[in-house]
Parts: sequence; structure tokens; C-alpha cells
Amino acid sequence: MRIHGIITKILFITALTEFYVETICDGEPPRTVKCPPQFVISTVWASYGRHLPDTCIEGDQQINTTCHANYENTISSVEESCDDSNSCTLVSSKDEYEDPPECKGVRKYLQVYYLCKSELITKAICEFSPPENVTCPEDQTIKVVDANYGRKDKWTCGDKLAENDRCLSSKSTDMVKEKCEGKNFCELEAANEVYGNPCGQTHKYLEVNFHCQAGKNINKELYSTLSLFTKMYNWKKLVEREKAQTYISRPFNR
Ligand SMILES: *[C@@H]1O[C@H](CO)[C@@H](O)[C@H](O)[C@H]1NC(C)=O
Ligand SMILES: *[C@@H]1O[C@H](CO)[C@@H](O)[C@H](O)[C@H]1NC(C)=O
Repeated sequence: MRIHGIITKILFITALTEFYVETICDGEPPRTVKCPPQFVISTVWASYGRHLPDTCIEGDQQINTTCHANYENTISSVEESCDDSNSCTLVSSKDEYEDPPECKGVRKYLQVYYLCKSELITKAICEFSPPENVTCPEDQTIKVVDANYGRKDKWTCGDKLAENDRCLSSKSTDMVKEKCEGKNFCELEAANEVYGNPCGQTHKYLEVNFHCQAGKNINKELYSTLSLFTKMYNWKKLVEREKAQTYISRPFNR
């Protein structure tokens, strides 16, 4: 199918390698979703319903039904409970989400895809200094929030207070993202030759605000769910979601 081919290609490029996935079945006790210490949850996608025939099976349930509650509502609800917290408790229940007509009588489950990100880290690299690395711990990747080559305060990078504390270069965020997003480390230099000169007579610095993110390698279950939901979900919308725009360090193997 042509459209499916296109979607698959987008998946390969933007793709989502490193998520945590939690699947909670209807009727199971509440589950605590957790990030490592000093990390907070960032929901990527969530669904309440059923996409897979072999997940959360009980008795003679109809398992070949595909149904789901409104994605946006499910995602917002999970975001509200979990985002920016180290842990949260979720329960899979139609009272918590909704029970669309096509889900009636079907045992549903809540599936949450999330990342763990560190607190915001700020790094400043001074103009005229050698290049420096922005680095995350092993197995973690950089998620750039923003960057500025210029100056935003009087005291960073200088032995005396600067006069100009308002020197912004709008393209530096994109340039740093290009260089660092999704990587474990990246080497940056604060120089006019790289970013242009946003203001004269000013000793500048490159400020980078970023998170380190952790996740798990994509697994078979997630891959089959992803390929299923690309057919059902407005994939473009998901890709546009700021949080899903993360990095894929390597493509799917199969
Ligand atoms: C589920 O599969 C059974 C057996 O193949 C079939 O009879 C039934 O109509 C299917 N139900 C749905 C909702 O597709
Ligand atoms: C940055 O890290 C890489 C890999 O560890 C290393 O090869 C490189 O020399 C580092 N660059 C700087 C400026 O420290």
C-alpha cells in the first residue's frame, strides 16, 4: 500500500527508538510508573483500548476487536498525572478514560509510551575558548530546549561584568539542535564563524539548555503497535508533537 509505505518511511527517519512502555490491563491494580532518581516522566503517547489480540487476554473475550478512546484525551489525562513527576500511578479503567461504543464488552488496556528526562541542564561555552562537549551520561541522549550565542546576563564568561546583557541570536537553537539532538554528546564552539556575530563589542558565549533523556530499546511489541497505530492515528500530528520529535539514533532493524 502506497500510503503505508510513506508512513513507514517517516517512521524510519523520525522514529522512536528509545521509549519506556507500560501496559496495564483493565482490572489490574493501579501501577506505578517510574523514572530513575532525578529523572521526570515525559509522556510521548498513550492509548486506552485494544490494538493487539495477544495483550491482556482473559477468558473468552473478543480479542480481535480494534478500538480506542480518543487519543488526545487519553494522552492529556496521562500527561496530567505523570509529566514532570518522578513517578505516577495509573489504572486502566473505562471510568478513568472512556468506553467508546466499539469497545463495549472488550477487555481494554492502557498503554503508555514515555521518556525519562533529567532536570534542565544549562551549559555555557565562552567565546575565544576551545570547543567543549555537551554530554549526557552513558545510554542517555541530549534533548535541546534552546540555545543562544550571545549574552543574556552580565556575569557569565568574564572576569568583569559585561555592559551588554541582551545579545540574542535566533538561529542558534536550530543550529545546536541540528548538531546535538539525540546524541550522547556533541562538540560545540562559541564563535562568530559558526553562528555569525549577533552583536559587536561584546564578549559572547553559547548557552545551551538541555535535558538528558533515557529510554529502552524498541521491542517487538512496540514495533507492532507502532505499525498498527500509524494506520489509525494521524501520524503527522504525533510527529509534530514537540515531545515526539526526539531523536532516533538508529533505525529499526526489522
Ligand atoms: C472475531 O473472530 C471470530 C472468529 O474468526 C469472528 O467470528 C468474529 O466475527 C470476530 N469478531 C470481530 C468483532 O471481528
Ligand atoms: C568530546 O568527546 C569526544 C568523545 O568522548 C572526544 O573524542 C572529544 O575529544 C571531546 N571533545 C572535547 C572538546 O572535549
